[in-house]
Amino acid sequence: MHRPTLRLLLLIPAAGPLSGCVSDTMWNGSRLKPLAGSPVYPGGSPVFANQSSARPPVPDTVARGQAQTDLPLYAGREQRPGRPLTTTFPFPITRQVVDRGQERFNIYCSPCHGRTGDGNGMIVQRGFPQPPSYYLPRLRQAPVGHFFDVITNGYGVMYSFNDKVKPEDRWAIAAYIRVLQATRPVGVTTGQVRVQHALSTTPTGDMSPSAARTRTGTAP
Ligand code: HEC
Repeated sequence: MHRPTLRLLLLIPAAGPLSGCVSDTMWNGSRLKPLAGSPVYPGGSPVFANQSSARPPVPDTVARGQAQTDLPLYAGREQRPGRPLTTTFPFPITRQVVDRGQERFNIYCSPCHGRTGDGNGMIVQRGFPQPPSYYLPRLRQAPVGHFFDVITNGYGVMYSFNDKVKPEDRWAIAAYIRVLQATRPVGVTTGQVRVQHALSTTPTGDMSPSAARTRTGTAP
């Protein structure tokens, strides 16, 4: 074999890794970033007045198949003039729904509201503003749509959970809050009484994580 040919052959395996460095067109290639100025037109896209490469959807645009016209289910409001907060649940509340609500509540709400809903969760103990107890007469009497509305839109310093908790789960949480409220004698506004889950199978009403697991495990 001629020496030059041999050298060429030796170079071939080295070319593989090298090509990774030189052909990075996918990485550096020109492309449009969403709503950013267009590199195709250095001075910005001539199509739109603000030189952006695309348009945001027209306000209130609804994607096909995503219209949420069921007001009670998606807004917690009655389908009638004035749209008052609904006082009923939009679907039957079963044991399964309450269990799901308990699980979601413990994940998303208890860090501030506490596992019993008295408003003394761990984040509050670390300095976050204290939410009101769910056992206040005002919140016992609030229409159930209020809880759905607070989760959906936030309330005062509490931020919205509509991107984290889907509508059905918001209702499940609202149902669980009703269960918590029903387990406190009227007049009690704190979490001092240990939770006696109305539907619980654990007679102590122990709300420790292990007890919660047992409860879920023994659910019918
Ligand atoms: C980061 C802490 C935090 C989390 C998490 C949180 N909340 Fe709140 N919540 C608050 C605070 C603080 C208030 C009081 C807000 C105010 O009055 O400005 C409040 C108020 C409320 C109220 C009372 C509204 C009224 O009429 O006074 C309800 C009901 C409520 N939250 C439900 C929930 C539910 C359900 C969840 C879980 C999906 C949740 N919150 C998660 C902090 C939190």
